[in-house]
Amino acid sequence: MSYYQRHLFFCLNERAEGEACCTRHGAQEAFDHCKARVKAEGLAGVGAVRVNKAGCLDRCAGAPVLVVYPEATWYTYVDASDIDEIIDRHLKQGEVVERLRLPDSVGR
Ligand code: FES
Repeated sequence: MSYYQRHLFFCLNERAEGEACCTRHGAQEAFDHCKARVKAEGLAGVGAVRVNKAGCLDRCAGAPVLVVYPEATWYTYVDASDIDEIIDRHLKQGEVVERLRLPDSVGR
């Protein structure tokens, strides 16, 4: 068994003016919301869920992005309601939220 059941990484990178990046698309707010909600729901901790900041994940064209391990499921999102759906369906039920899945073709 892995130390965390699921481990989320949010890109919080900011690029120079004009370049696509996660920070300019609400990544910090989404990260803060996710951290708070995972904690409030009692999902955080060893054997459960860990939510971490990350630098650029090199998939900036899909910004903002996050990835959930161990499934290595990549998501893009718009707002807190998308994060809530990932928490409710993926983290709680193990069900991938297909509508938010980042296509494999999206890179930098
Ligand atoms: S800035 Fe977020 S993936 Fe590159």
